[in-house]
Amino acid sequence: MSHDQPFAHRHLLGIEQLGPRDIATILDLADSYVDLNRQASKHSDVLAGLTQINMFFENSTRTQASFEIAGKRLGADVMNMAMQASSIKKGETLIDTAMTLNAMHPDLLVVRHPQSGAVDLLAQKVNCAVLNAGDGRHEHPTQALLDALTIRRAKGRLHRLNVAIGGDIAHSRVARSNILLLGKMENRIRLIGPPTLMPAQIGEFGVEVFEDMHQGLKEVDVVMMLRLQKERMDGGFIPSEREYYHRYGLDAEKLALARPDAIVMHPGPMNRGVEIDGTLADDINRSVIQEQVEMGVAVRMAAMELLARNLRSVPA
Ligand code: NCD
Repeated sequence: MSHDQPFAHRHLLGIEQLGPRDIATILDLADSYVDLNRQASKHSDVLAGLTQINMFFENSTRTQASFEIAGKRLGADVMNMAMQASSIKKGETLIDTAMTLNAMHPDLLVVRHPQSGAVDLLAQKVNCAVLNAGDGRHEHPTQALLDALTIRRAKGRLHRLNVAIGGDIAHSRVARSNILLLGKMENRIRLIGPPTLMPAQIGEFGVEVFEDMHQGLKEVDVVMMLRLQKERMDGGFIPSEREYYHRYGLDAEKLALARPDAIVMHPGPMNRGVEIDGTLADDINRSVIQEQVEMGVAVRMAAMELLARNLRSVPA
């Protein structure tokens, strides 16, 4: 690894492939983009001349908008593929679609797909840099990185924190990427939720598991709530939303068990009154949910810049 190439990766497929140095490199660069994004004129040309294609095979509002804004601020030519109307609907395979796009010489491909592993597979077939914008229940690396930046800025550090992740862990790629990232940075992680929403091999993750919110939230520095992913459930995971909110929904009363300066996070989209109380989500003294969205653009700018530097220095 040379000093000119501090981030020695061709793609950003998951947190699993990153080391603590890689994570710090992305977050440090992202900090500088937070400053740029707060100025009236936000333009840079580090991606000028490069083509970025966003391929979202699953609905997305914030992640797709965030990647699009990030690419445009860095001067890339950004194209959003309308995947709902694409040839995939006519029976073309994911790989054929990817090969077709590949022949148009894109430089950055941002992909979201409902199947775990689909983005890794695609990355093996194309010549450009691939960024995983969420694949099934597997990984969502830029979400974990933006969460890490949000935590680091709010808490002044990203190690030796007690972080509680609450709710639908089993269906969540956000939880998986966060567990990997926070573990690599030496934080203590607690997962809170009903057994039906815990992944089967949870013992392998090096985390503490709680069924009771009141136990799990005690003295934590960060509370991250997750959306109940009804679209990935085939019934029978929770008794009722009302009951779920009562036991696992974050409200001011349950939050009082955490540290007095604990921050509240949620990757969005939120189900208000299901996993989180709406008033608490909007409480700017506790909730950093809007900061997470802001950090998302900066983290994606940083990740794309680092991958683009490698594209320019390493022949395909
Ligand atoms: C998450 C996702 O798509 O995995 N959302 C996001 O990227 N902001 C979480 C979710 O859908 O609940």
